Amino acid sequence: MDQASASPNVHFHDAYPAPTDSHPELLRGLRQAPKRIDPKWFYDARGSALFEQITQLPEYYPTRAEIAILSAHRDAIAERIGNGCVFIEPGSGNCAKAKLLLDALQPSAYVPLDISANFLRDAALQLGAQYPWLAVQAICADFNCEWTWLDRLPPGRRVVFYPGSTIGNLEPAAAGRFLARVRKLVGTDGGMLVGVDLHKPSARINAAYNDAQGVTARFNLNILEHINAQLGTRFDTTRFSHRAFYNSEQRRIEMHLVSDEAQTVKCNGETIVFEHGETIHTENSYKYSVEDFAALAATAGLQLQQSWFDAEQLFSVHYLEAD
Ligand code: SAH
Ligand code: AVI
Repeated sequence: MDQASASPNVHFHDAYPAPTDSHPELLRGLRQAPKRIDPKWFYDARGSALFEQITQLPEYYPTRAEIAILSAHRDAIAERIGNGCVFIEPGSGNCAKAKLLLDALQPSAYVPLDISANFLRDAALQLGAQYPWLAVQAICADFNCEWTWLDRLPPGRRVVFYPGSTIGNLEPAAAGRFLARVRKLVGTDGGMLVGVDLHKPSARINAAYNDAQGVTARFNLNILEHINAQLGTRFDTTRFSHRAFYNSEQRRIEMHLVSDEAQTVKCNGETIVFEHGETIHTENSYKYSVEDFAALAATAGLQLQQSWFDAEQLFSVHYLEAD
C-alpha cells in the first residue's frame, strides 16, 4: 500500500502487512532447544524507542563511536560516494546517522527502510520536514524477506547505508547473503557504506549489553510484550530475566531471556513448557576484525575501498564497491 503524507516530499510504502501468519515461525523457534525468537520482534514502537534510549547509555559505545566517525570524516565519505545517489538505509531507525551525511552527500533521494512501521513513519516525516529539498521514500519491510519493494526505488545510482552494526545481528552466513543482495542492488556503479562493531576485550562489550539502568533488560523483555500483543501469546515478563554475555570464541554478544521458574505459556493453542533456568535466545551481535569483515564482503563480491575508525578503534565504517 502506498501513501502520500502531509509532507509533499515524503512517501510511505508498506511492504510488511500485519504479521498475522507469524505463529508457525514463532512456534518453530519456541519448540527448538535452545528456544529462539528472531530479533526482528524487538522492534515495535516501544522497542524502537528503547533502542533509541540504549544508544544514549554511557556503556553503549557503538552509536557514539560511529557518530564520531561519520562526523569527523563526513566530507571524505561524501567524496568517496559522490553526489546524486539514491541513498538506501535498511534498518533506518531514527534516521539520525543519515542526517549527519545528507548535506554533504546531496543524494537525489533517501530511502529509509524499517520493520517498525510507526517509528519509521514518524522518523521519515521528521526528516522530510528538516530536509524539504530531499525526496524521501520510506519503506516498511523485513529486510530478510524477499525484496518486493525494489520497484519502489527512485531511479539513479544506488548506495546502501547500513550503519549501527545491524549486520552483526545476522549470522555470518546470513550476513554474507545480505551483502550479496546488496551487491546485486547497487550493481557496478553503486556502493555500500556499512558500520561494523569491532572485536575487542570482553569487559567493554559485556558492559554495553548489561547497562546499570536496565534499559537493555527492558528492551530484551519487550520482545515478549510485542509477541503477546501481535500474536496473543501469554508471556508474563515478570517471570523472565535478561542475560547477556560475550562469547569470545564465536565473537558475539548473546542475549537470552531466562525463565525464573518452571512455567508453561500458551501459544496459539500449544503449551510451551519452560524449565527453571531455561532460556530463549533472542539475539546475537557479532563483532568483526577488519580482515574478517573484508573477507566476508569479498565472498559476496564486494571489495573494501576505504575504512574509517574512531580514536579508540572501537568501531569501523567501511565503503565497499563491487569487484
Ligand atoms: N540504523 C540505526 C538503527 C539501528 S537499530 C542506527 O544505526 O542507529 C536496527 C534497526 O533495524 C531498527 O530500527 C529495527 O527496527 C530494524 N530492523 C531490525 N530487524 C529488521 C528486519 N528484519 N527488517 C527491517 N528492519 C529491521
Ligand atoms: C541494532 N543492533 C545492532 C544492536 C546491537 O548492538 O546488536 C541491538 C542491541 N541489542 C542490545 N543492545 C542493542
